[in-house]
Amino acid sequence: MLRAVALAAESRGRTLPNPAVGCVVLDAEGVPVGEGWHRRAGGPHAEVLALAAAGSRAGGGTAVVTLEPCAHTGRTGPCTQALLSAGIARVVVGVPEPSSTAGGGAERLRAAGVDVQQMDGPERDAAEVVNAVWLTAVRRRRPYLTWKLASTLDGRVAAADGSSRWITGAAARADVHRLRAECDTILVGVGTVLADDPSLTVRPGDGSIPGRQPLRVVADTHGRTPSNAQVRDSAATTWVATADQVGSDPDGRVDLRSLLTELYERERRHVLLEGGPTLAGAAVAAGLVDRVVAYLAPALLGDGRAALGAAGVSTINATHRLELVDVRRVGDDVRIEATPLPRP
Ligand SMILES: NC(=O)c1ccc[n+]([C@@H]2O[C@H](COP(=O)([O-])OP(=O)(O)OC[C@H]3O[C@@H](n4cnc5c(N)ncnc54)[C@H](OP(=O)(O)O)[C@@H]3O)[C@@H](O)[C@H]2O)c1
Repeated sequence: MLRAVALAAESRGRTLPNPAVGCVVLDAEGVPVGEGWHRRAGGPHAEVLALAAAGSRAGGGTAVVTLEPCAHTGRTGPCTQALLSAGIARVVVGVPEPSSTAGGGAERLRAAGVDVQQMDGPERDAAEVVNAVWLTAVRRRRPYLTWKLASTLDGRVAAADGSSRWITGAAARADVHRLRAECDTILVGVGTVLADDPSLTVRPGDGSIPGRQPLRVVADTHGRTPSNAQVRDSAATTWVATADQVGSDPDGRVDLRSLLTELYERERRHVLLEGGPTLAGAAVAAGLVDRVVAYLAPALLGDGRAALGAAGVSTINATHRLELVDVRRVGDDVRIEATPLPRP
């Protein structure tokens, strides 16, 4: 299973709106004879690739898959059928399929006489983590949301005059482009468009997938995004989402939950929030942030915008607590990855 998880890691961020999946096929004696990972949406699934690599040696063997094999015909045929046709006798599953459309694979295999085993413990956890973005999105029926920020050590994301380019160094900025390449959507508030006029595209060479740029979304209650803003150029598709289109929250601004639901309907599974403190605060307050990636520069600004605006916290007991997932140095900056802990 851990080998299948390592294979699934190869496909992370490249298969959206599909999951990251890895598969290892063993022959009847338990010798690994085929491996596969899902490379792109619309392409063959991991099981099909691993079975193809194994050929006739798959007969009477075992397929170890990070996600329950699908039982439905999407852009490709059902994996359950491919496993049955190859004569697989046993299937080991990392995580059960959460969506009702693709679910029922294990049941169908069992009905056909295949021994299906659902993993537990660290192997299942690893299969869950490698596919966390997609699993979270499907379970919550809204895209996974990663909030990225670049701040000084004193927590400022812009100087007193609103300028913020650049707080972090070239290595951190290249890392942001790799992060963008893993997402299918980039979200900012109109405040960031007006202040910085960002292009919000993935640079070639920084992990971009040829021909694929994330959708750019501007939360813009009244449609103030200028007609000559860079986000309106032809480098990528842009949606200026107004309150008229998606509805408004109690403060009269674009309703973020409805916006995310709409993006999910449009097959978007991973949103990178690159907005300023106002939009980030609203997203944190609404409990919509699934992961924070912070680039901290060894610099001090004093006066200037704090990284997070109003986030529904008025007393220390209400602090949004996070769990550290990863801390590392990127060039001269520090990259911190953290996920929210449940609210008390
Ligand atoms: N260092 C960094 O990582 C970083 C990243 C981005 C920006 N910045 C800096 O941040 C500053 C801009 O900050 P900002 O807070 O104005 O930018 P923002 O958060 O990107 O945009 C805020 C605007 O988004 C609109 N909005 C629409 N729906 C909203 C909702 N539900 N909740 C909150 N806002 C919503 C609001 O304007 P309407 O009501 O008119 O729609 C709001 O004023 C600039 O100085 C920029 O350089 C820094």
